[in-house]
Amino acid sequence: MNAAIVSVVKVAAMAGVNVVGVEDGYEGLINGALRPLVEPDPRTGVLAPIPDLTGVGGQGGTMLGTARCPRFRDPTYRALAVQWLRAASVEGLVVIGGNGSMAGAHALWSEHGLPTVGIPASIDNDIGHTREALGVDTALNTIVDACDRISDTARSHRRAFVVEVMGRDCGYLALAGGVATRADAVLLPEKNPELHQVLKKLETIVRHRLSDHREKKKVLILKAEGVKIPTQTLVDDLSTAVSDMEDVEVRATVLGHIVRGGDPTFRDRLLASRFALVAVQSILAGESGIMVCWSVSDYGKATSDAFVRLFSLDSVLRETKALTEGTSDLQNERIHRLDAIHGVLAF
Ligand code: F6P
Repeated sequence: MNAAIVSVVKVAAMAGVNVVGVEDGYEGLINGALRPLVEPDPRTGVLAPIPDLTGVGGQGGTMLGTARCPRFRDPTYRALAVQWLRAASVEGLVVIGGNGSMAGAHALWSEHGLPTVGIPASIDNDIGHTREALGVDTALNTIVDACDRISDTARSHRRAFVVEVMGRDCGYLALAGGVATRADAVLLPEKNPELHQVLKKLETIVRHRLSDHREKKKVLILKAEGVKIPTQTLVDDLSTAVSDMEDVEVRATVLGHIVRGGDPTFRDRLLASRFALVAVQSILAGESGIMVCWSVSDYGKATSDAFVRLFSLDSVLRETKALTEGTSDLQNERIHRLDAIHGVLAF
């Protein structure tokens, strides 16, 4: 998010546009917590990013702070937010965030005509139309690193590990992480697995992988947090199922918020700057109620960047719902493709 904030500010300042930042997301917008992010250079008078932004683009998180804001679902608070923005002469809003943030941006545009453009940012990769959101690549690199480390212990100690990764209701991180780490199995909320179904399969995998005649003995199972089976229940039941195997242990690791932090990868920094450039160009060109998307399809609207297209927030929200409900073509395509890769390369 910091990489996107810094890029938005730089692009806008270069265009001579004043920028204020909103602290703590929609919560700050309701409270009028705005702060300048550009200032005139004392010598030349040309607008430039404030010194606080120096070096921030390479750090994880957001220097503006963020917050969950249930109050923003109430139109009264949205009206209050718009009052603050109008009082500060804000003519357009760049919203960087996940699906809740995009719903808020859509409401500000449709109810109040406030020009809004969204930049998708969520490790869950559950935002409609964009192939990738900011944070996903960094999160996946962390998952790969953590799983590689866990695999070292697994191999040395003849253990099976169930590693739970974040993603809310979306299994993307588990799926993509599972492919990259050559996991033996991946459990996804989209497939809604029942305990008794997966237990048998996992038992077979553990018996095969950790059998005496195999040289490299380890089992790695990636489980998305949205899967309804509690991780500890899975580990306990799997342990019981293979309790006759000598020296074999099943362990759990919940990666939790470790996956959400860390300095952004090259790819996330690149994505942030390309999203930001198009976002600012679009809002200055009078576009509104839209989100920038990483997409090479023929859908949406082309921009100055061949890989970034504009989609209306309306259709982003519809596609996001389909992703969450597991009815999206994109989701099915992802699962099929990664299943195919996994089937060929996992073992
Ligand atoms: O949406 C990002 C995310 O990290 C999800 O993967 C996770 O379910 C949730 O946020 C955790 O939120 P919180 O830190 O508020 O518990």
